[in-house]
Amino acid sequence: MKDWNRRQWLQAMGFSSLGLTLTGFSEPTNAPIIHTSTSGSIRRLLYNENPNGPSEIAKRRIAEVTDRSNRYATFHKYDYLALKKLIAEQEGLQPGNVLLGHGSFELLTWLAVHYTQPGHNIVVPSPSFDVVGAISRKIGGTVHAIEVNDDFQLDLASMEAKISAQTNLLTLCNPNNPTGRKIDTPQLRRFCESISQKVPVLVDEAYIHYLESWKKHTMAPLIAEGKQVLITRTFSKIYGMAGLRVGFLLGPESLISALETKFTMGFPGNMPNTLSVAAAMGALEDEQFLQTSSKFNRAGKGRLYRALKELDIPYLKSEANFVYFDVGKFSAFKAHMRQKDIILAGGWPSKPNWARVTIGREEEMSYFVKHLQGKAWMR
Ligand SMILES: Cc1ncc(COP(=O)(O)O)c(C=O)c1O
Repeated sequence: MKDWNRRQWLQAMGFSSLGLTLTGFSEPTNAPIIHTSTSGSIRRLLYNENPNGPSEIAKRRIAEVTDRSNRYATFHKYDYLALKKLIAEQEGLQPGNVLLGHGSFELLTWLAVHYTQPGHNIVVPSPSFDVVGAISRKIGGTVHAIEVNDDFQLDLASMEAKISAQTNLLTLCNPNNPTGRKIDTPQLRRFCESISQKVPVLVDEAYIHYLESWKKHTMAPLIAEGKQVLITRTFSKIYGMAGLRVGFLLGPESLISALETKFTMGFPGNMPNTLSVAAAMGALEDEQFLQTSSKFNRAGKGRLYRALKELDIPYLKSEANFVYFDVGKFSAFKAHMRQKDIILAGGWPSKPNWARVTIGREEEMSYFVKHLQGKAWMR
């Protein structure tokens, strides 16, 4: 078990070293800004973006509404309520079960604020993309971070054991970032059913679309069954729309409406922008784009696995669009790659020598593999 401080978390996610300032995270740094590149081209293998997005349908929708950029995304066929309705329909839920955000990061932040209370705690996995835990700590909350097991699987039994009468929320990420591991679906369903009788369970499903027949793996049906289960999703990953900043939270109507009142006062001014809403609605119609992106990602992972194996670099098979591997000395590795204009993540405190690389374009991956060869950072 390990509790992280803010600097450690930001370093692992690759934020502080790049001089980025995130909402609520203002990390002073003298590091070069992200666009500085000696070759003129940064290989963005850091954020788990889809290098092939957005889909053509999403782009057409953006073009269609560009002239409406003077208008809020209301009273239109592509308005924020229509997006909520479409999401709800696709998930077998009601629009009242859906809360939209500027990316899922915003919604995770709200959940952290909502569930952080004096004398209470939150249980989270580690290593993970732990926005809820990081924000909660930042505002004075108690967070119990439960380390993955020896096989890098989330340790559900230890997480359950940590729940007490003071626990307000338990969070999971499936597939998990940065390990790429997926929890067995029937096991996860049983876990959510049982735990949600004691505390709300949040499942971050940012990467779920990378699973084959992904709809079989989502925990969304548990919400329709009335369980205290919350799910975050994002258009930033397989949908290839990270820059458009749209995400959503699914949950019981009472919680969704409480969060809406608390953080937006019911005023739709926090809705995603006109272009993002139209693009998101287009993206949800484009099943083919998901298939093509998954196929591209599988092929990229296959090539990378072969290279890592040849180089004798230990790695985990991933169910997402990134791969986690042991480089021996992460800070030297990161500096080596940065010098080659490759940006990536790693160095989570409990796994200080593990790195995470996003599956980028074929050219980017070949360039990356070329700079793995010889393991120059180990010398
Ligand atoms: C697991 C997970 N959840 C949430 C996010 C936040 O994504 P966004 O705010 O773009 O929706 C990320 C981003 O990398 C992520 O990896």
